[in-house]
Amino acid sequence: MIIKLINSPILFHLPIIFIGINFRSIKSKRKKDIILRKNKIRVGSYLYPMPVVIIGVNVKDKPNFMPLAWVSIVEYKPPIISISSHQGHYTNIGIKENQTFSVNTPSKELVIPMDYCGLKSGKEIDKSDIFDTFYGELKTAPMIKASPLNLECRVVKTIELETGHDIFLGEIINAYSEDKFLTNGIPDVKKMNVIFFSMNDNNYWEIGDHVGRAWSIGKSYKK
Ligand SMILES: Cc1cc2nc3c(=O)[nH]c(=O)nc-3n(C[C@H](O)[C@H](O)[C@H](O)COP(=O)(O)O)c2cc1C
Repeated sequence: MIIKLINSPILFHLPIIFIGINFRSIKSKRKKDIILRKNKIRVGSYLYPMPVVIIGVNVKDKPNFMPLAWVSIVEYKPPIISISSHQGHYTNIGIKENQTFSVNTPSKELVIPMDYCGLKSGKEIDKSDIFDTFYGELKTAPMIKASPLNLECRVVKTIELETGHDIFLGEIINAYSEDKFLTNGIPDVKKMNVIFFSMNDNNYWEIGDHVGRAWSIGKSYKK
C-alpha cells in the first residue's frame, strides 16, 4: 500500500511528509527508519560532483573545443583517461582524424567561453579563435593557454557504442601547467580555481572548503 503511494506520480512528495509524521514520535533512530525515509527518484546517471573539462581537437587543421563532463581516469601507469563524446559532435571527427585530443581543465574564469563551446557545434561555427592555443609533441591536439592544466592525449582505444557515444581512451603523453597553479610540483585544486558541474540541474560550481587528508583522516575512525 505504502509502496503504491510512493510510486504514484500525484503523491510523489507525500511519502516524505507521511513517513516523517509517523516516525517523529519514535525516539530511537533505528536503521529501519532511515531506510523508510528514502524515496525512489527518477533513475538517471547521477554522479555528484562531476568534473567538467574542455576537449581540444584539430578538425581539418583547425582547433575546435567542446565542454565534456563524462571524463574519467581509467589507468595510472601508463596514465589513461576516458572520454565519452556523442557521435554527432564535430569533436569526434577530429579525434578520429588525428587520433589525438587534449583535456583542458577550466578555471572559473573560463566558464563563459567554455559554456559557449557547448552551445554551438563546430559544424555550425568556427570555434578556433575562442581561446589562445598552443601545441605540444603530438602536434594535432590544441591546448588552451589560459587553462591551468592541459593534458595531451593519444588515442589508444575507441569504443563505438551503438547507443550513440564514442568512448575514447587516451594515453596522457604530456601534462602542462604553470608554477602558480602547483604545490610541490603537483596541480593544486584550489590554486587552479577549478569548477565542477552538476548534470540534470545544469549548474557550475566552484570548490568549497578543505575537509581532510585522503588515506589519512580515516585512521581516526572508532567503532
Ligand atoms: C557542461 C557540459 C557538459 C557536456 N558534456 C558532454 C559529454 O560528456 N559528452 C558529450 O558528448 N557532450 C557533452 N556536452 C555537449 C557538447 O559539449 C556540445 O554538444 C558541443 O557543442 C559539441 O561541440 P562540437 O560539435 O563542436 O564537438 C556537454 C555540454 C556542456 C555544456
